[in-house]
Amino acid sequence: MACGSGLTPILSILESLSDAQLSSQHLLYSVSHEPEAPFKNRLQTLANKGLNLLILESSSQGRIKNDTLEAWLSEIQIESAYACGPSGLSQHIHDLFIERSQRLGHATPKFFTESFGFANASASSDVTLSFKDANGRLIMSKQKNGTLLENAEKTGLNPVYGCRAGICHQCIAQKKSGRVRNLKTNQISDAGKEDIQLCICVAETDLELTINERTVQ
Ligand code: FES
Repeated sequence: MACGSGLTPILSILESLSDAQLSSQHLLYSVSHEPEAPFKNRLQTLANKGLNLLILESSSQGRIKNDTLEAWLSEIQIESAYACGPSGLSQHIHDLFIERSQRLGHATPKFFTESFGFANASASSDVTLSFKDANGRLIMSKQKNGTLLENAEKTGLNPVYGCRAGICHQCIAQKKSGRVRNLKTNQISDAGKEDIQLCICVAETDLELTINERTVQ
């Protein structure tokens, strides 16, 4: 499994395999926008040699779900799973595979992950987050450990995101009030209105912000 730029090491591994070995490999590649997915020609070459390839567009389909795994893998037993991508997604994939192996009565696969981003970002639980979606619906929650993006997802919201690592700026939200800490720079913001990146910020004070939600098909 690879997400975004996490494809590069996985691609190297797959390209080192023989055609016979490739035919028993499965690659799920989660990318923000499928038409812009890098290395598509190389992936197609691998698929032509027998790789079971699934490209998932996160901007329209959201996070990888159990249903996606079932439709793609059926009841195939997975011995080893490799995941490379943002820390939150690698953990999510790990949890899905544990659940799947238990449900199907399979041995737990060996799991190898390489992550980037801000795993377990510590954040004050004394602040209240007020998320407003594009329709004006207000959802309030106490902040938990993790970025504002992860906190928004825990409330059931479905914010737009891409890299989850502060690179692509797709997770921009409009802060109305409150101070945030940027996990990349450790800088604390002013308390007024500004655009912030949900995936690299935690709240330092009570926070009001409007998020952009993705449309899941
Ligand atoms: S998701 Fe890419 S910068 Fe936040």
